[in-house]
Amino acid sequence: MIDRTIQQTSVPALGFGTYQLRGTACREAVADALTLGYRHIDTAQAYRNEAEVGAALATSDVPRDDLFVTTKVWVDHLEPDTARRTTTQSLRDLQLDYVDLLLIHWPNEDAAPLEATLDALDALKDEGKTRHIGVSNFTPTLLQRAIDHTTLFCHQVEYHPFLSQDALLAQARSHDLLLTAYTPLARGEVLASGRLQAIGERHGKTPAQVTLRWLVQQEQVAAIPKASSAQHRKENIDIFDFSLSDEEMRAIHTLAAGQRLVDPAFAPNWER
Ligand SMILES: NC(=O)c1ccc[n+]([C@@H]2O[C@H](COP(=O)([O-])OP(=O)(O)OC[C@H]3O[C@@H](n4cnc5c(N)ncnc54)[C@H](OP(=O)(O)O)[C@@H]3O)[C@@H](O)[C@H]2O)c1
Repeated sequence: MIDRTIQQTSVPALGFGTYQLRGTACREAVADALTLGYRHIDTAQAYRNEAEVGAALATSDVPRDDLFVTTKVWVDHLEPDTARRTTTQSLRDLQLDYVDLLLIHWPNEDAAPLEATLDALDALKDEGKTRHIGVSNFTPTLLQRAIDHTTLFCHQVEYHPFLSQDALLAQARSHDLLLTAYTPLARGEVLASGRLQAIGERHGKTPAQVTLRWLVQQEQVAAIPKASSAQHRKENIDIFDFSLSDEEMRAIHTLAAGQRLVDPAFAPNWER
């Protein structure tokens, strides 16, 4: 495993995403991921699986200190008292005293001014309910506003070979933020890329493995693929016995084509 050191905190560069995993399947998938060596788990209030993630964590023998658990406050919960109340419920469901990272899932100033929500998250941090706070799906301008207001640890955004995040990466690097790549496999679309297939053949790896290696080989970046299949979970963590050359890294960067897969109606104007 490669660890990122961000603001003196160590974070496994490869995590396990849990969007769309529900019920027993979620509990079993997270338990299996922990057995395979994943130590960074990503959930959210909106995924409605915090209780199942918590059940898997509670029955695992992995020490709490070895885990990095992220959850996210949903867009309708950003008013300060609501953020506090729902985070308390998240911790109860996760059966944890604290999470490692608490994120604003999407910006939504109809619920509260950004600074007020950040203050609420900071208060939870001061009380030990989260070790770090961060944001997700912010534009460069919004991210700068948040950075100017408080200490952020992470920005979680869609990032894969078909979508460049150069501007946000530069911001993450200059402020020592973790940039967590969500939808890192472009929901499976990386499998069809001839270039990723060719690079994979050279290393005896699949296009999914090449993509994840490309992400974790970048400074400040972590990736959180989701896999409901046991075979995919195993494959995705088997990326630490090879590395990509500078030329291969560059060749994958040139695949970027502005292809954004997660763009709900309430998303911000990405160009701002
Ligand atoms: N902050 C946000 O707004 C946000 C938004 C979206 C996602 N996320 C986070 O990011 C995580 C990952 O994103 P995602 O679930 O959207 O997409 P993803 O990880 O890019 O893709 C998941 C899809 O890829 C398949 N897959 C996984 N490993 C594979 C492999 N080795 N070979 C072939 N196919 C493979 C999975 O299949 P199987 O399931 O069949 O194994 C699933 O269909 C989420 O679970 C969530 O934690 C955050």
